[in-house]
Amino acid sequence: MNELLSGPHRAHHSGATSNATHDALAWFDLGQVDRDQAARLGPISDQVADQIIEEFYAHILRFDNAAQKFTSKGQIEQVKAGQEKYFTDLISAEFDDAYVADRRRIGGIHEVAGITPTLYIGSYAYYLHRLGTLIGDMMAEDPATAFRLFLSLAKIAHFDMALALETYVETREATIERQQRLMSELPTPVLKLKQGLLLIPVVGMLDQSRRAA
Ligand code: HEM
Repeated sequence: MNELLSGPHRAHHSGATSNATHDALAWFDLGQVDRDQAARLGPISDQVADQIIEEFYAHILRFDNAAQKFTSKGQIEQVKAGQEKYFTDLISAEFDDAYVADRRRIGGIHEVAGITPTLYIGSYAYYLHRLGTLIGDMMAEDPATAFRLFLSLAKIAHFDMALALETYVETREATIERQQRLMSELPTPVLKLKQGLLLIPVVGMLDQSRRAA
């Protein structure tokens, strides 16, 4: 199933929706209904964004292993600005190839920064929990609408998380391939023990049948 969210999305133009993106959206059951739901957040979105972002960083920076991932206070301020755009896109961007490519780019940034899947998904759970609570409070006069709106946001967030994590898997696969290539390109020393008898060391494990032979 992961092929839905990888490869083909890379070639993208603004507004374009490739078949791969189309299929991935269908798999997540994401569509215009969710966009319309999320758009209901429009009038209060700035307020929600500011509060969510502040609470999010207050939470993750309480943990040393998360705080250590940031190189400076300045970087945190910069990332907060990036989060504003992230939130705006979450509630209003088109679900097109450009959206998919940008979410994948953000995933790649986290992979490089050493944010493990547990840190990422755990913090996302907090993000969604705070978002849901805030929407419930701010739309207390219409809880049914608030709930449907939240359900759509949760779906979009899962789509985003999957896109981010696919980049992790791809990066690791690329690293393994690179290492295997390097290994296979290593020159093998060949020692001539005597006429007709060569000693060639084996790198790696020998399977059971060869060991017995
Ligand atoms: C809900 C989960 C998260 C979201 C939505 C999110 C979102 C973002 C965004 C939008 C950026 C800016 C990307 C850009 O430059 O355009 C970013 C960067 C960054 N995030 Fe996150 N993030 C999340 C979780 C985390 C966690 C848990 C950590 C740390 C433990 C973290 C650490 C970082 C770092 C260090 C950068 C900057 C990387 C760099 O510029 O080299 N993020 N994040």
